[in-house]
Amino acid sequence: MLVNAKEMLDKALAGHYAVPHFNINDLEWTKAVLTASEEMKSPVIVGVSTGAGKYMTGFKTVAAMVRAMHDSLGITVPVALHLDHGTYEACYDCIDAGFTSIMFDGSHFDIDENVAKTKELVAAAHKAGLSIEAEVGGIGGTEDGVTSAGEKADPKQCKMIADLGVDFLAAGIGNIHGIYPADWQGLDFNVLAEIKKEIGELPMVLHGGTGIPEDQIKKAISLGVSKINVNTELQLVFAKATREYIEAGKDKEGKGYDPRKLLKPGYEAMVEECKYKIKEFGSEGKANA
Ligand code: 13P
Repeated sequence: MLVNAKEMLDKALAGHYAVPHFNINDLEWTKAVLTASEEMKSPVIVGVSTGAGKYMTGFKTVAAMVRAMHDSLGITVPVALHLDHGTYEACYDCIDAGFTSIMFDGSHFDIDENVAKTKELVAAAHKAGLSIEAEVGGIGGTEDGVTSAGEKADPKQCKMIADLGVDFLAAGIGNIHGIYPADWQGLDFNVLAEIKKEIGELPMVLHGGTGIPEDQIKKAISLGVSKINVNTELQLVFAKATREYIEAGKDKEGKGYDPRKLLKPGYEAMVEECKYKIKEFGSEGKANA
């Protein structure tokens, strides 16, 4: 059974670790994320962006695949199926499709509109038994073709959104989607601490989890981050392993062109990367915590 993400994140906040949110793109990604999490006995959030949902032919297809694969692999760790950076419409689509968690990203609206839409979606999500994440301040970089310069969140606005009853909150603190530029200034821990002071015991979400140095990850967790989103890292390790396979001419040996062989090194690299992140975030062995 897929679960709502509230309980796993409340436990992570209390236990001072973070639950990994891994974005999926297809069957290989889903299998890698579920297999690694089960092996590490870690709770996990399977994230699906609107673009990835479209790529997989729609949110209903995704929900059916994740549920069926969860059952056929005999997964025992808590797994939430979560919409990543959802539009207002996508949130309703995912409630209908059988997701167990949604994110409404109203960070590009002015705060009044973000508050109004988030408030409505909190009621709709909770009525259907889903958890809901909201966002204040932009996460920099480009994801799914949407580019944001990255704007640090205003702690007072974070409190306005937190008070609406969201289950966890994403806030811009200098984090960026994709690969961090060489001159990146790092996470702004002063802003993170100020936000935390305003929102109290609400788990926080750190987007842009690819490429953040381990000491900053640990410090963010110690200041109240309970969910860390990772997308690009899995794409990078998959691409590297696949390129090495082809450049070594292995697709031309025997039936090396068979997709089950061709995609295997990339799949295995993703399993290892997920396991590495689970260790780094401290969620190993926390499935029954
Ligand atoms: P990265 O692609 O930088 O890992 O960010 C993922 C993310 O924040 C998804 O919401």
